[in-house]
Amino acid sequence: MMRISEEKINEIAQANDIVEVISSYTRVKNSGKSYLAICPFHQDKNPSMSISQEKRVYHCFSCGASGNLFKFVQNIEKITFMDAVEKLAQRAGIALDLQSYSPDLTNEITLLLEINKIAARYFHDTLFDLSGAEKDFIFSYLRKRNLKDYTIKKFGLGYAKKDWNSLHDYFRENTEFSDDNLEKAGLIVKSTKDNKYYDRFRGRLMFPIFNESGKVVAFGGRKLFEDDNTAKYINSPESKIYNKSKILYGLNFAKDSIRSEKRVLLVEGYMDLIALVQAKFTNCVSSSGTSLTDDQVKILSRYTSNVSILFDGDFAGIKAAKRGIEKILQGGAELRITVFPENEDPDSYIANKGINEFGQLINSGSDFIEFISNLLAKENKLKSVADKTNFIREIIYFISFIPDKIKRSFYIKKLASEYGLYESLLQDELNIALKKNTAVKSSTEIRKEQPFNNLKKNKQSVISRIETELIEHFIHGDNEVIEYLENNLETSFIRSEHALKIIQLFLDEYLNDGKIDVAKIMNSIKDEKLIEIIAAASTEKYKVNDAGIKDRNAILNSVASIKMNYLESVKGLIKTLRIEKLEREYKEKAKDSSKLDECVKLKKEIFQLSKN
Ligand code: CTP
Ligand code: MN
Repeated sequence: MMRISEEKINEIAQANDIVEVISSYTRVKNSGKSYLAICPFHQDKNPSMSISQEKRVYHCFSCGASGNLFKFVQNIEKITFMDAVEKLAQRAGIALDLQSYSPDLTNEITLLLEINKIAARYFHDTLFDLSGAEKDFIFSYLRKRNLKDYTIKKFGLGYAKKDWNSLHDYFRENTEFSDDNLEKAGLIVKSTKDNKYYDRFRGRLMFPIFNESGKVVAFGGRKLFEDDNTAKYINSPESKIYNKSKILYGLNFAKDSIRSEKRVLLVEGYMDLIALVQAKFTNCVSSSGTSLTDDQVKILSRYTSNVSILFDGDFAGIKAAKRGIEKILQGGAELRITVFPENEDPDSYIANKGINEFGQLINSGSDFIEFISNLLAKENKLKSVADKTNFIREIIYFISFIPDKIKRSFYIKKLASEYGLYESLLQDELNIALKKNTAVKSSTEIRKEQPFNNLKKNKQSVISRIETELIEHFIHGDNEVIEYLENNLETSFIRSEHALKIIQLFLDEYLNDGKIDVAKIMNSIKDEKLIEIIAAASTEKYKVNDAGIKDRNAILNSVASIKMNYLESVKGLIKTLRIEKLEREYKEKAKDSSKLDECVKLKKEIFQLSKN
């Protein structure tokens, strides 16, 4: 099959006017700002198909036929997607064998992605173009680390030369990118001494860091030379495309496998992740040395609610594991913990003990109670009464993070029976810990932080009016509106699974491309229902009635004349959604008389919100 790049497909889509193309198959009428057509996909008497020239999509309000330009040609000609692409390329006079394309470099996100892509290719090619002693040295390192060629290729690993300017020179000789932009991408740094630029990464093994959809957003570079006194790893600085706290290294490769295994393995290092994937443990992501963030937990919760933490046996590893446990429990996920023997990490363990023993070790992972007790036992801190009291307090501290009351009481029971303690005593301790938790955080914050639970709750199949409006705001709003949505919309606000999927697609696209191009997004959607919802939200609305075209035009024109202030209205939407969510919670809690306090609090909060 012919491969056409996504960029090329975009170019073809842009070069054909959807209204012109549809006009060549059916009668299209211009009415005010939008276009109406006799729908060619059903017996249409009055024009029921609305076309948005700007969004480049169509939607029939009568039979539901919807999509972008390619879909239209595909369905009307009854041909494949590729054939439709070819046909439209021909129509626009675009040659398909032409490999070149021009990304929109006025958009900072596209610009930075482009620079990173070129740099990643350069580092990778440099590695494979090495010769002589340098090649021997680097490849013996790679072999020592057990990295197979196919792994090096899969992860796009590369080599940054020892020279001060090799990457910079490459860009200067082969591209038009300014030093300013290369600096923005974090690839070159200005010396404070002589104001000259030099490469950030020198003499390092390069790990391109991919975002969720597989685009290079940053680099991690590991030092290779003994005489190098700088840090073991150097990473790209944060940028418009690289937010460290939102990246999970390896997620782009692991998505499907996490879903099918219904579990994610969480490791600390780049090398750990790569070693696991090479050993066929593909449902793995790396937090890359930072302790797990709320954002990372939220991202994981979209894929699974079972998390296995695999952490180094050193002090830093255990500290990171503990913080990860808090966050994951708080999110409502099920948790298994494997801590590796001292001076070992997942990567070295696989190398030393083999894949089978590694598999056994992670399968025998413990829950957090066992984890803490093993830890204290090892440090000989489970002997005296005072020690044991400490231990129980520590466990209860973790239990207090679990949002689910039933789960909490399960752990309390377990703890009581295992250590021969009174349940009521433990419950009292827990209540104190819970109060402390609430004291530190506002009540809304605690409720907000249960992303894993949302995954499990059944989403509804019908999409509500307000969810449809939300989707419309994503499509018609400017970047300010979308950024507002990104920062304020919580998954728990959304009840329809379709709406949730669409919003995730939109956010992905926005984070990748800096804008939401609905026609482009449609190319990757298989689910017809999603396409229909997006198309309906992109085109002008009007009621299909029997009153005839005149009335419809009137309605259409009046719709067009209302100038929407999307930012104002999106704030209203979010507020309504938040109130609705709190009201759902209230209803749930009101069934339980012991939750009177919480109910009162909720009511107060709802009242406050509705007031301002
Ligand atoms: N890290 C970092 N900067 C450092 C040290 C570590 O960003 N100066 C991050 C890297 O993502 C690294 C992870 O923390 O992969 C874990 O660090 P560490 O355990 O020290 O390294 P390993 O990944 O085990 O690397 P190696 O096996 O090559 O020593
Ligand atoms: Mn390691």
